[in-house]
Amino acid sequence: MKTNADFSQVWDHQMMTNYSVPTIAIRNGEGSYVWDVEDKKYLDLLGGIAVSVIGHCHPLVVAAITEQASKLLHTSNLYAHEPALDLAKKFTKLFGRDSKVFFCQDGATAIEAALKLVRKYGYGVKPDGTKQVIVAMHNGFHGRTSGALSITGNAAKRDGFGPFGYEVRFADFNDVASLESVMGADVAAVVVEPVQGEGGMNVGTTEFLNSCQRLAKKFQALLVVDEVQSGVGRTGSFFNFTQHNLQPDIVTLAKGLAGGLPIGAVIATTEIAQNFAPGDHGSTFGGNPVSTAAANVVVDVVTDKAFSENVVELANWFANSIMQMKLPQIKAVNYSGMWFGIELNSDSAATITKSATKHGFLVNAVKPNVLRLAPALNISREQLQSFLDILPKLVTQ
Ligand SMILES: Cc1ncc(COP(=O)(O)O)c(C=O)c1O
Repeated sequence: MKTNADFSQVWDHQMMTNYSVPTIAIRNGEGSYVWDVEDKKYLDLLGGIAVSVIGHCHPLVVAAITEQASKLLHTSNLYAHEPALDLAKKFTKLFGRDSKVFFCQDGATAIEAALKLVRKYGYGVKPDGTKQVIVAMHNGFHGRTSGALSITGNAAKRDGFGPFGYEVRFADFNDVASLESVMGADVAAVVVEPVQGEGGMNVGTTEFLNSCQRLAKKFQALLVVDEVQSGVGRTGSFFNFTQHNLQPDIVTLAKGLAGGLPIGAVIATTEIAQNFAPGDHGSTFGGNPVSTAAANVVVDVVTDKAFSENVVELANWFANSIMQMKLPQIKAVNYSGMWFGIELNSDSAATITKSATKHGFLVNAVKPNVLRLAPALNISREQLQSFLDILPKLVTQ
């Protein structure tokens, strides 16, 4: 297999039909660039869908992985190891309150663990099972496993896979009245993304997110903040919830946490975490030594004050630069930190994405009219400028 077309052909033949057939095959990456198998270079403005937070093959991440891989690859959760416990200690500090951590493989398994913890909590409050409803948001996304899908408010992703094992009521995102209308004593948890990434970059308002917390408290329900995509420095702080002064009971993380290796984490207040008894939940690979060794490096890099200040400054400059172009094809730039939804005036996101790829830029049509960018947090001004230079051409083609 030599060309992109060769890879597409084999993919089409061998791989399940749940994904569209990719048109390019990536061979290697460095920083914010990747190269395909035909040696074409791309500026990666999507970062493996918000995963490569400090770029591809960051030397510190590679060194941590290499060192850990030569020492110990796997233990199972029958035994302790240093990288996972170091990482858990860092989380407690960042979470800001007494907390406990569960490690898993990705975002969906973090949500599954959070949902099971909510179940136990609900049975603790109402042993007869009358406090088990989950409130989630229309347009939200929490993953593809059955539990995570049950709270995903997107018919296109859910249809054809029910019935699910959870009773879920959906509220409109950023609509306090809608949220109020679905709350009640039977609600065990409110699950919310502070920014809906897959939903097309809808940024949660402080008023709405605080209402999630207020109403959860009022009805003795838990507040679960899904930071799988918004976390790990993406929005200019390690967690987005701190920007709204929230005090969630449970937070989920995944995506960029290990800089490109699979990992997921659930952080809960100690009080709520103690609903799990030994044997209640588990994962063979969760908290793997290599993934957690990489994550320790990523957390150290993205929590550096100067690093996150630069993320915010650069992101503001980039978003403002797009808006100042006043391109008639662009309606708005919705963003939070280094995470952008370029809202278009027509359903041209797929065409623009295709054209961008041709010109050496990787972006994503997250909705028919929204281009999503989630570049590495350490992308340079010059690299972002190169996209600004070509944007007018891309949107007019
Ligand atoms: C907010 C949120 N939660 C959960 C998930 C699921 O994560 P994963 O694809 O790692 O299972 C995603 C994935 O996009 C997400 O954006």
